[in-house]
Amino acid sequence: MTVKIYIPLDSGSVALGADDVAKAIAAEAIKRGEDVQIVRNGSFGMYWLEPMVEVEASRGRLAYGPVAVEDVDSLFDAGFLNGGDHKRFLGHTQDIPFLKAQTRLTFQRCGIIDPVSLDDYRANDGLKGLENALGMTSEDIVKAVTDSGLRGRGGAGFPTGIKWNTVRQAPGDQKYIVCNADEGDSGTFADRMIMEGEPFVLIEGMIIAGLATGATKGYVYTRSEYPDAIRIMNEAIEVARANKLLGPKVLGSDYAFDMEVRMGAGAYVCGEETSLLNSMEGKRGVVRAKPPLPALEGFMGRPTVVNNVISLCSVPVILEKGAEYYRDFGMGRSRGTIPIQIAGNVKHGGLYETAFGLTLGEIVDQIGGGTASGRPVKAVQVGGPLGAYFPRELFDTPFDYEAFAKADGLIGHAGVVVFDDSVDMMKQARFAMEFCAIESCGKCTPCRIGSTRGTEVVDKIARGEDPEMQKELLTDLCETMKFGSLCALGGFTPYPVMSALTHFPDDFKPHALDIAAE
Ligand SMILES: Cc1cc2nc3c(=O)[nH]c(=O)nc-3n(C[C@H](O)[C@H](O)[C@H](O)COP(=O)(O)O)c2cc1C
Ligand code: SF4
Repeated sequence: MTVKIYIPLDSGSVALGADDVAKAIAAEAIKRGEDVQIVRNGSFGMYWLEPMVEVEASRGRLAYGPVAVEDVDSLFDAGFLNGGDHKRFLGHTQDIPFLKAQTRLTFQRCGIIDPVSLDDYRANDGLKGLENALGMTSEDIVKAVTDSGLRGRGGAGFPTGIKWNTVRQAPGDQKYIVCNADEGDSGTFADRMIMEGEPFVLIEGMIIAGLATGATKGYVYTRSEYPDAIRIMNEAIEVARANKLLGPKVLGSDYAFDMEVRMGAGAYVCGEETSLLNSMEGKRGVVRAKPPLPALEGFMGRPTVVNNVISLCSVPVILEKGAEYYRDFGMGRSRGTIPIQIAGNVKHGGLYETAFGLTLGEIVDQIGGGTASGRPVKAVQVGGPLGAYFPRELFDTPFDYEAFAKADGLIGHAGVVVFDDSVDMMKQARFAMEFCAIESCGKCTPCRIGSTRGTEVVDKIARGEDPEMQKELLTDLCETMKFGSLCALGGFTPYPVMSALTHFPDDFKPHALDIAAE
């Protein structure tokens, strides 16, 4: 009997040796005359266990990890094709505590299926949301998304239903769905992981967005650093077209929708929606002043939905199971689930999808398992390079948009980057200013000039040139950037800078800042 072996193909696992392990297992199986079928699946997101190899044994899917090429011989000797015992044995995949404790609504099939098999996707309840949506009016689809409480997962947390309704009601013979897959935030990989592991859920979400708003064309804008995601998305789009999921008659209906992938060069500011639209139009990635909103005048001046990958991928389950089902997860005004990406100096780095409401301390200490270095956690940066640093005293903050805002932070794309006590917070503050200076689109003065002056001010504190006065100047500069910048690149840089200064004042004493923060 053929034994199915699952080995991830996502770029995180490949970077850890998954391709070599797959080759070694295939070669060893031939050598031993074993009948195996290797399926390259997406990652479950437990990166400290990658490459994680699974076998479909009679008692279910069993996992081994992290597997190195050197382990392959002994795995066969141990009879791993029948779930034999081995030092890398992890038990049933779904029982691994990190996975078992999650609530996977958006990533429910990621890791389980062959990413480009539409049959696999359907067999695991894929397309049910779209099938329901095809029988609904655009108004009712928008209502379901609004009632679910879904807020944009790309950063600002804007209610998705309200955005869709604006596009739905906007006059225009051509409307667009643009998926923001630029994913520039530090420590984030959810967009990449789902595009590589379950691309049909994004295609399904974009078609539903089209149905809801009257858009017939979609674009996925991502960066050149994501070649595997681009390849897999393109492959899935081809399969979707061949199966009439995309094209002039979506699933046999009268509705037409098609989509393509566009690649940007990887400037952080091109993740900002208007800058992204300029980039897609072949122009420089400079931020546009709003109004007009992209919902009214977006891509090529037409009404456009710009949504993050995870926002769009959360839609199929809402249409499948209903608004209440989704809304019942979470706390306060943060409804549903959020794929938290745990990264940095952490023992169990990976993707953890859960309902909003866990505390930051639970995420870092219990789920992440503390630092990889074994030293005490000193700070956690949440929300990318423009997010605030949280000290341990704020670890009881629940993962919730409002609670984070109250603590002068942001959730952003839910990237959690952990630092141990060897981190120099003044260096991190300098890094934030320098990052802003490098990535600024240059349109407005507080961001373009302020960030360069900000870097110099931090250097003066480090050199001991009237540090108290410089700290006042830094605070003043941050206020100007916060209130005078056109977009959040300049406007949010004060978050990392001021949180470092406020929570870690002892680090802002004169000392050498010789190494870069990255
Ligand atoms: C400097 C900057 C970078 C951004 N980068 C991203 C990004 O990489 N991905 C993303 O989805 N949103 C990013 N955003 C937020 C987008 O402008 C926009 O709010 C989002 O794509 C809307 O989608 P959502 O409503 O689904 O969150 C960025 C914003 C700023 C100011
Ligand atoms: S804040 Fe910075 S990135 Fe944003 S528009 Fe102004 S100069 Fe451009």
